Amino acid sequence: MPFYVTTPIYYVNAEPHLGHAYSTIAADILARHMRQRGEDVFFLTGTDEHGEPVAQAAERLGTTPRELADRNSVRFRDLAARVNATNDFFIRTSDPEHVAEVRRIVQGLYDSGHVYAGVYEGWYCDRCADFKTESELVDGKCPIHLITLEKRHEENYFFRLSSFQEALERLYAENRDFVSPGSRFNEALNFIRQGLEDISISRSAISWGVPVPWDERHVIYVWIDALLNYYTALAYAREGEDLTERFWPATVHVIGKDILKFHAVIWPAMLMASGLEVPERLFIHGYLLMDEHKMSKSLGNVIDPFQVMDLYGTDALRFYLFREVGFGQDGNVSTEGFETRYTTELANEYGNLASRTLAMVSRYRDGAVPAGEPPAALVAVFEGAPEAIAACFDRSDISGALEQIWERVRELNRFVAEQAPWQLAKDPAQAERLDSVLYGLVEGLRVVSLLLLPIVPEAAERLLIALGAAHERSLVAARFGAVAGGAQTGELPQLFPKIEREPEPSAA
Ligand code: ME8
Ligand code: MG
Repeated sequence: MPFYVTTPIYYVNAEPHLGHAYSTIAADILARHMRQRGEDVFFLTGTDEHGEPVAQAAERLGTTPRELADRNSVRFRDLAARVNATNDFFIRTSDPEHVAEVRRIVQGLYDSGHVYAGVYEGWYCDRCADFKTESELVDGKCPIHLITLEKRHEENYFFRLSSFQEALERLYAENRDFVSPGSRFNEALNFIRQGLEDISISRSAISWGVPVPWDERHVIYVWIDALLNYYTALAYAREGEDLTERFWPATVHVIGKDILKFHAVIWPAMLMASGLEVPERLFIHGYLLMDEHKMSKSLGNVIDPFQVMDLYGTDALRFYLFREVGFGQDGNVSTEGFETRYTTELANEYGNLASRTLAMVSRYRDGAVPAGEPPAALVAVFEGAPEAIAACFDRSDISGALEQIWERVRELNRFVAEQAPWQLAKDPAQAERLDSVLYGLVEGLRVVSLLLLPIVPEAAERLLIALGAAHERSLVAARFGAVAGGAQTGELPQLFPKIEREPEPSAA
């Protein structure tokens, strides 16, 4: 089955921060999991380069939008690589192929009567690149960016969003999974039911954008240009091949809740107007918070993901974000919380268990995994695990999947403490039982590592190799007992080493 997953395309008005890494890692975990299930996966991320947010940042920095876009797009591309994202393509909305296709689609909307000329007057936030209604303003300020807004009066082209009211209500009625979590589904549906107004889809005040094909005094509104990336990329992501038939409609768009309305209302209406299929579903995640405030470039309270990964490694970041914050909810992140989870969960519960197990197999069985009887207790623990985890991932519930996996990691720790193989080793009469315990531990570690591959790919792969589980990485292999004893184990470099931090400079 085709599985097409996307991240938002990020504005190049500033450097990436942890919030951007979060969405990219989430989509990557889903992509890796689906590949493990043998599905035909396409994973897209990229950068959103036109419009006011970028033009104004460039002006502030004394550079051109294009230079700023070139510079920061590379930073986002680097971030994707650094978090070990396995994206199949990185789109830039300045790509000529994208620009040409946006012009073609918008011209189509105009030709079919979905677009008309009109006048807009209202409150406008440049940072959101979006109009605000009177009721959305907080003390005359944008509720997201907390900047004072001015009234704008502009001749624009409008998209007849209002004419899709019924079609959208039907989409939501027929497809309860279109938006999740459920609270976001309700939020989007309520917005639609309140009544939709037509939206302005062109700008004449700026020139940094895709020119409106029939009236080049205007550029296409950045959000229209940006949303179309999900569709346009497929036609040119592969040299000499058009992947649109194979992967459209997208399976899941992963986005933050700040951009719900664009994806849940405007985007499906645009697609319907263009005669294209709407995506299967949207998954809306929450905000990473710092001391209860949204981490954002406008508030300046951002964590640099590159720094975190330099210190703790990529896996630790991937793990922490989905362990600490329930995927779909808002949650605080902090250095203290990070270090606690790193030490107690990754280093102790997983890393230590692995090194102790390998040390015992080496000491008591010359490094060969014994062909012991699968311990009944562990058989029960792992019964149905791959299915339960796949079911979580089918709901994009990454934190739920991780919790399911971690319960098993904890069971393995309980098992080793109860069985005390170091005691069994002292009594030759217990050799068979020791075989069974060691086999159970190795097999349990193999299964949890396979299940963890999408989340902590580097560490899980290294452990699988050390366990002698050389080849099979698919989800079907994550069945307890699927591999018999006999494998030769190898060396395991410490998976999650103790962090040596630079000592704080002390006051002289
Ligand atoms: O909105 N917590 O780009 P953007 C969680 N270009 N996620 C966060 C976050 C936080 N504190 N901060 C940012 C745009 N994000 C448009 C999108 S898509 C067709 C166009 C993530 O650079 C989250 O996914 O402002 C959010 O939706 C996105 O970054 C916004 O990135
Ligand atoms: Mg933003």
